[in-house]
Amino acid sequence: MNILGIETSCDETSVAIISDGQLKINLIFSQEFHKEFGGVVPELSSRAHLQLLMPLIKKALNQSFLSLNQIDLIAATAGPGLIGALLVGLTFAKSLAFSLNRPFIPVNHIEGHVFSGFLMEQKPEFPYLCLVVSGGHTLLLIVKSDTEIEQLGTTIDDAAGEAFDKVAKLLGLGYPGGPKIQSAAEGLKSDSINFPIAHCKSEFDFSFSGLKTSVLRYIQKNFGSSEKIPPENLRMIAFSFQQTVIKALVTNVKKAVEKFHFNSISLVGGVAANKLLGIELEAIAKKFNKKLVIPSSQFCTDNAAMIAYRGLILHNAGFKYNLEYNAYPSISDNTFIKPFIQ
Ligand code: KG4
Ligand code: ZN
Repeated sequence: MNILGIETSCDETSVAIISDGQLKINLIFSQEFHKEFGGVVPELSSRAHLQLLMPLIKKALNQSFLSLNQIDLIAATAGPGLIGALLVGLTFAKSLAFSLNRPFIPVNHIEGHVFSGFLMEQKPEFPYLCLVVSGGHTLLLIVKSDTEIEQLGTTIDDAAGEAFDKVAKLLGLGYPGGPKIQSAAEGLKSDSINFPIAHCKSEFDFSFSGLKTSVLRYIQKNFGSSEKIPPENLRMIAFSFQQTVIKALVTNVKKAVEKFHFNSISLVGGVAANKLLGIELEAIAKKFNKKLVIPSSQFCTDNAAMIAYRGLILHNAGFKYNLEYNAYPSISDNTFIKPFIQ
C-alpha cells in the first residue's frame, strides 16, 4: 500500500510517501522568500505551491522508485490554513485521486501534528497528553485513541508561535521569530525581566497577546524604540519572553498531568523545536514517570509525512470521503474532531 501525502497549508510545500507503513520520503520545500516581507504573503504562497507541487511529487516518486500508477491512496491537508494555499494542494490531490480512481483522504492539519509522534521510533501510548504549539494554534489535548481527541485548552488570543513571531518583529530580529528568539537568548540562564503570565478563566486555556504588549511597553519605556536596545538587553528581553511563554505552557501541562491519567506526553508543532521547552517538558515527564515524545524537527514543522500517516490511519479506520470535500481555513469552520464524523 503506497500513500501519497500532500501538505500546502502555509509556506511549506511538502510531499511524502508511506509504503507498507514505512515512511519512504518526506520532501519539504520552505518558501524562504516570505522572510523579506516579515511574514507569509498568502497569494505568493499559493502561487509557489502551484509551481512547486508537481516537481516535488515527481521527485518523491523517483526517489521512492515508484510510478504514479503505484499510488493507492492520496491524502492532502484540507484545513486549517491559508485558504488559497490549501486549495492548491487539496484540488491537486482530488484531481489525482479522480484520474487514478483511488481513494482520497482530506486530513486536518492539526490532527497531522497531533499524531506526528507516531513517525518516531519511540511512539506515544494512548491515552496521551498532547501540547500542540504552532504558528496558528496552541492546544492542550487528550488523545484517547486514533479517533478520539478531547480538547482541554486552547489560546484565547495569539498562538504561542505567533507570539514568538510578533515579539521577534518588535525586537527587529526577523521572521520566523521562534528560531531567532531562541538563538538570541542562547547561553542565558536566568531572566531578570518579569513579564506577566495571563491567567485565563478556563483552567487549561492560554493567552499570549498581553505578553506581547508587555514586551512592547518595556521596550518603549526603557529604550524608546527597538533600534536603541543595546545587544545585551535585547538578548535578555528575548530570553525573558521565551521563559514566560515556556512557563505558561508548562504550567498547564503540569496541571493536566496532575489531574488526569496519561501514559505519555507529546509535544508537537513548530514551537516544539524550542530546546528549552523540550528540556522543561522532559523534567515534568521524568518527575511524573511519563514517556515523552517530541518528533524530530522534520516532523515538527509543517510536513507531508504527518499528513500521509494520518491519511493511512483514517483509511484503515474505514473512513471514506468523496471529492466534494472542501478546504476550510479555521478550526471553528470545521473542528479537528469533525473529519472523524465526516
Ligand atoms: O507548525 P508550524 O511549522 O507552522 C504552523 O502550522 O503554524 O509552526 C511555525 C511556528 C512559527 O511561529 C515559528 O516561529 C515557530 O513555529 N518556531 C519556533 C521555533 N521554531 C519554529 N518557536 C520557538 N522556538 C523555536 N525554536
Ligand atoms: Zn503546522
